[in-house]
Amino acid sequence: MAVPDLQVFPDPDTLSRAAAELLIAIATQAVQAHGRCNVALSGGSTPQTLYRLLAQLPYRGRLPRSKLHFFWGDERCVPPDHPESNYHQAQLALLAPAAIPPENIHRVKGEWEPAAAAQDYAAQLNHASRADEGFAWPRFDLVLLGMGGDGHTASLFPGPITAADLNGPTLAVTASYQNRPANRVTLTPLVFNTARNILFLVTGADKAETLAAVLTGPFNPERWPAQRIRPDHGSVAWFVDRAAASHLKSTRT
Ligand code: 6PG
Repeated sequence: MAVPDLQVFPDPDTLSRAAAELLIAIATQAVQAHGRCNVALSGGSTPQTLYRLLAQLPYRGRLPRSKLHFFWGDERCVPPDHPESNYHQAQLALLAPAAIPPENIHRVKGEWEPAAAAQDYAAQLNHASRADEGFAWPRFDLVLLGMGGDGHTASLFPGPITAADLNGPTLAVTASYQNRPANRVTLTPLVFNTARNILFLVTGADKAETLAAVLTGPFNPERWPAQRIRPDHGSVAWFVDRAAASHLKSTRT
């Protein structure tokens, strides 16, 4: 497993600009290497600044938009025009203003019954997979992830997850968090951990204690689900702001 790379930024805006540069660099390189870039977006409030930036010049002009394909690490089971839909939020902030071609958008059908949506999403991933990569899903060029104050990431929440559930690419789950929709569909660590690059974005003092536990505490993925993200051959970077890093003993900026 690659050693996570931690970068501490003075504020969320600087962090988001650095994330935009990294996404563009990864996308440019992926398109050169294999003609397409597969990105899994995160839900939550933290990446919204990044999404808005990417839709604006100069970033928008540097995105290989026709070759950029968007998926989601997780989705809340609500209709696609619901304000709490991860797809809807990304659509408003990034996909519509950046004019991403509709055929490049691979959303979870949040309006469906969760188990059926999970199954359909697995089929979409299978359709986007490449024979030479050897998986029933694409090896994502970039996965964006957030982290909740309870240590969850995507919709991998604290508590046990059965081996059978961890054995497939997608999973329907139910979890209460901050009054957000409880029924969700998530990718599993099986998919996340084959990604080429994973980027966590974490901001705010309310996540400082959890961030320190996840990054420097004992390995306890049932307590700290973000620890389940450990790619076999990919890189993991954590972009955090100073407030979120405040419980980490020594950090570099
Ligand atoms: C979701 C997410 C989730 C999110 C964290 C952090 O659908 O809710 O993908 O895992 O990233 O809850 O959310 P914030 O960025 O709002 O703190």
